[in-house]
Amino acid sequence: MNPNKALWEKGDFTRIAATMRDSGEVLVQRLGLTSEMKVLDLGGGDGTTALPAAKLGAEVLVVDIARNLVEAGNRRAAEHSLAKLRFEEGDASNLEALPDGMFDLVVSIFGAMFAPKPFDVAKEMVRVTKPGRRIVMGNWIPNDPTLVAQILKISAHYTPPPPEGFVSPMTWGIESHVLERFTAAGVPADRISFARDTFTFHFPGAPSGFVAEFRKYYGPTMNAFDAAEKNGRAGELQKELEELFTSQNKSGRDDATAVPATFLRVTVAL
Ligand SMILES: C[S@@+](CC[C@H](N)C(=O)[O-])C[C@H]1O[C@@H](n2cnc3c(N)ncnc32)[C@H](O)[C@@H]1O
Repeated sequence: MNPNKALWEKGDFTRIAATMRDSGEVLVQRLGLTSEMKVLDLGGGDGTTALPAAKLGAEVLVVDIARNLVEAGNRRAAEHSLAKLRFEEGDASNLEALPDGMFDLVVSIFGAMFAPKPFDVAKEMVRVTKPGRRIVMGNWIPNDPTLVAQILKISAHYTPPPPEGFVSPMTWGIESHVLERFTAAGVPADRISFARDTFTFHFPGAPSGFVAEFRKYYGPTMNAFDAAEKNGRAGELQKELEELFTSQNKSGRDDATAVPATFLRVTVAL
């Protein structure tokens, strides 16, 4: 089994995605979509960005590696009667089923960053985008003090080191790496721009309840707890995460959680 696929089919990412919908909509509102556009959403999960994009009239294809998320996305598309929205299983590092220059916009918000072979991912994103059009990525930033980078950092203290040659997905949050990958795909450096942006997670319960969702449903956190349990350190991991979520909760209440997280927005103008 492909470990990249197994990681994201583990648990149920739709539970975490449900806390990300507001920011997904806000981000999509700023993309300037029109009903004539063809959009590819890579690693789009169950449609946090794809649904709002399709509601604006664009024709949207989501390619995601996790079968369960593709199924969940297609169910949501049907529930919302979005005939121009489709989810398919596939790998961002190999989009061979898609012809060159097919899309007006390729978007990937915390999606393609998780695919192995980042140079292939950049090459494929450039290949399927129409000349003169755009790629927009949202990537978590390593060592950032906000939520997601901190979850991954804490979790790394409880898990065995990755195999030799493993390229961390978080390198997509470092501008020099992003430049290297897109210039290797033939894009001039001055066509690649960066901005800091914020995604806010909203959970209708206490921060400890939100940690419980990650522990039960988010593949990377489930793996960290599996490893910590083997070493008798699951309680320690739970405590560190609860402290993190509580300290980052900006809801002003104990029974609701609102956590803003900073990411790197990358725009590639072809
Ligand atoms: C953190 S989730 C984000 C999902 C969605 N973009 C959102 O914001 O709700 C990461 C997504 O990337 C997908 N993914 C991971 N590796 C992938 C790959 N190699 N190709 C395509 N999708 C991938 C996962 O299945 C998952 O849906």
